[in-house]
Amino acid sequence: MEINGKTRVCGLIGNPVEHTLSPIIHNTLAERLGQNLVYVPFPVEMGKVADAVVGADALQLLGLNVTVPYKSEVIAGLKEIDALAKDIGAVNTLVRTDGGYKGYNTDMEGLYRAMMSDGVKIDGEQIILLGAGGVARAVAYLCAVKGADKVYLLNRTFDKARAVAEEVNHTSGREVIIPMHTEDYVTLPGGKYLAIQGTSVGLAPHVEDVVIADDAFYEKIHTGFDLIYSPWETRFMRLTREHGGRAYNGLKMLLYQGIIAYELWNDVKVSEEDAQAVYEMLREHFI
Ligand code: ATR
Repeated sequence: MEINGKTRVCGLIGNPVEHTLSPIIHNTLAERLGQNLVYVPFPVEMGKVADAVVGADALQLLGLNVTVPYKSEVIAGLKEIDALAKDIGAVNTLVRTDGGYKGYNTDMEGLYRAMMSDGVKIDGEQIILLGAGGVARAVAYLCAVKGADKVYLLNRTFDKARAVAEEVNHTSGREVIIPMHTEDYVTLPGGKYLAIQGTSVGLAPHVEDVVIADDAFYEKIHTGFDLIYSPWETRFMRLTREHGGRAYNGLKMLLYQGIIAYELWNDVKVSEEDAQAVYEMLREHFI
C-alpha cells in the first residue's frame, strides 16, 4: 500500500509489544478493504501510559489497542468508557472521539465470536473456568451475561477465586459463579463440561505445564477452550482431545478482538470471508 498524506494511523500500546500479531490483522484488513490505514506497535514504558494517550490524541491517531500490562491502568486517561468495559474493569481498544478516547473491551466479545464460529455455546452450559486473574475474571463475566447455567471457577489461590465470584455475581446480577480450590475438581457434580483455560500455565516455552494433569478431570470435559495460542496445541488441549473432547486454542479470540476493534475504528462490518482470510495469515505463523 502507498502511505501518503491521508494515511490514518492505528496502533498498539503495551510492554512488550515486539511479538504482537495484531499488525497482521489490521494491515491485512486495510489492504483487503482498500482502506488507507496502517497499524504499528508502540512500546510504552511503565508510568507513561497516560502520556501516551495524550500524545496519541494530539497526533490524531484513529485508535489504539492496549495490551499487557496496561488494560486497567489506561482507564484513568479516557474521556469515556463503554459500559461492558467498565463492568469488566479492563480496556483493550481506544477509539478517538471529540476531546479524547473512548475505551472498549473487545477481548470478551472476541472470545464470544470465536466460540460461536467454532460452534461452542455458553448459554445453558455447565462451565469449568481455570484461573482467577484479569483474563479469567473477564471470561467469568462473559459466561454470566451470556447465560451459562453454572461456572465453577477453579483457582490455585482460593481467595482470588472467591473475590472474582463475588464481584461477577454482583455485577451480572446472577448467582452463577461458584469459586473452588483447583484440587476440588474431584467434587464437581457429574455430567460433561465446557472447560475454559484462562491461566498462563502452558504458554510457550513452558509447553508441558498444565493446571490439572489428572485423566479423571479430562473425562468430565466435552469441549476445552484454551485462551493460549502459542503453542498451537497446549497440553490442556491435547489431554482434552485424548479423552474424546473437542479442543480449541485462543487464536480465533485474538482474531475477533482485532476485527471488532477494526470495525469500531472504521465503522464497517468485516465479512466472514475477510475474517477467514486474516485467520489463514495468522495461522501461517504457527505452521
Ligand atoms: P492474567 O491477567 O493474564 O489473567 P494474572 O492476573 O497474573 O494474569 O493471573 C494468572 C492466573 O494464572 C491466576 O489465576 C494464577 O493463579 P493464582 O491466583 O493462584 O496465582 C494462575 N496461575 C499462574 N501460574 C500458575 C501455576 N503455576 N499453577 C496454577 N495456576 C497458576
